[in-house]
Amino acid sequence: KSSGEGNANGKIILMGEHAVVYGEAAIAFPFQPTHVTAEITEHPYDQLRSGYFVGPLIKAPKSLENIKTLIRQLRHDFTAPPVQITISSTIPAERGMGSSAAVAVAITRAFFDWQNSPVSHETLLKYVNYAEKISHGNPSGIDAAATAGSEPILFQKGAAFETFPINLSAFLIVADTGVKGKTRQTVKAVAQRFEQDKKTTSPLIKELGDLTLKAKQAILNNQARYLGELMNAAQKNLAALQVSDQTLDNLIAVATKNGALGAKLTGGGKGGCMIALAADYTTAKKIATALTNQGAKATWIQELGVYQYA
Ligand code: PMV
Repeated sequence: KSSGEGNANGKIILMGEHAVVYGEAAIAFPFQPTHVTAEITEHPYDQLRSGYFVGPLIKAPKSLENIKTLIRQLRHDFTAPPVQITISSTIPAERGMGSSAAVAVAITRAFFDWQNSPVSHETLLKYVNYAEKISHGNPSGIDAAATAGSEPILFQKGAAFETFPINLSAFLIVADTGVKGKTRQTVKAVAQRFEQDKKTTSPLIKELGDLTLKAKQAILNNQARYLGELMNAAQKNLAALQVSDQTLDNLIAVATKNGALGAKLTGGGKGGCMIALAADYTTAKKIATALTNQGAKATWIQELGVYQYA
């Protein structure tokens, strides 16, 4: 083939962030309104064309080391000639939406497509986790699995990922605060609280895990209203763990005031994104508009249970 193409979607954490660090369950959700496409063609030397950088891959900044390593590995394994990689992405970086994993998924798929070779899910995740190790040090693999797939994933430390279908008819709104998420700092702050005051912190974390398991049932049983309540309850606990902030709280209040069934932060907190659930598209649109008016940098709406591609 003269060229190959691959894509991947963004992801959000629906429930269970932070608690998952303590062994509780969390649910990651593929988020298809944000996505990446990659194209690979043969080129005299390895070249990258992306929103961040255009030029020889060898000159790409350190932040793109994950892509350099991935391409080096793929070229080595296929004894393939140099390539041009063209990436276009609508996933904001550093918002907990899995942008680095999604780029690696799209590139790996494009490379295999170019080589006319089918790629198994397992092989795909192997390459992506290889790149993710460079981006994140010690990745759980959840971003790789969620950006490569089309079903929610329940994950828990030490257990295999479990996917399950979305039987829920509802709309998910994601809003970007415009501020980088602070996952590293918030995870550390929660650990300090946990050490200093186990008696109040531990039940909050345990309850977040229970809410996650109930959320899975709500998604399987098409209980949108109930899922909204569970999201609100999770946000209360996340706020009690002090990983929310004024900006997130404001956007969550705006979503609720405009008819959301539930709203919460997603991912590390203290910036990053918030999510809201709506029963119908009209309400989802109204919420998204209100969030934009209140300063959200970007908003997206996904109809749940309806997927465009796997
Ligand atoms: O912001 P994200 O999508 O990287 O999610 C962070 C999730 C935490 O539970 C807060 C941390 C973790 O490593 O699981």
